[in-house]
Amino acid sequence: MPDVFVAKFSQFPDGDRRIVSAGTTEIGVFHWAGQFYAYENLCLHQGGPACEGVMMHKVEDVLGADRTFQGQRFSKDEMHFVCPWHGYEYDVKTGECAADRKLKLKSFEVVRRGEDIYVVAD
Ligand code: FES
Repeated sequence: MPDVFVAKFSQFPDGDRRIVSAGTTEIGVFHWAGQFYAYENLCLHQGGPACEGVMMHKVEDVLGADRTFQGQRFSKDEMHFVCPWHGYEYDVKTGECAADRKLKLKSFEVVRRGEDIYVVAD
């Protein structure tokens, strides 16, 4: 299958995403922290459009020196997208399900050719 055009680099700002079709496969493409990531838009739970869900920083517990719970905060390093059907969260940098890292969305290579961004569909 030929590579799928995603967007012009200048029209795909960091923090944004696109959904493209490669034949019958939908692919979510993310531009995050200077890198591009692409995953099949098919949730591992029940097939929802996982890549279309809200993006939010991972919520982390804050523990005191004595290991007591002090509250929660948003991670500075880890961004998730959340399947809109039932809330499975995926790490945007790996495609792994945050609750079970053994579960991982199918990923695709993203390439930049000049000003154009493509997904390498297989
Ligand atoms: S289908 Fe995605 S969380 Fe259920």
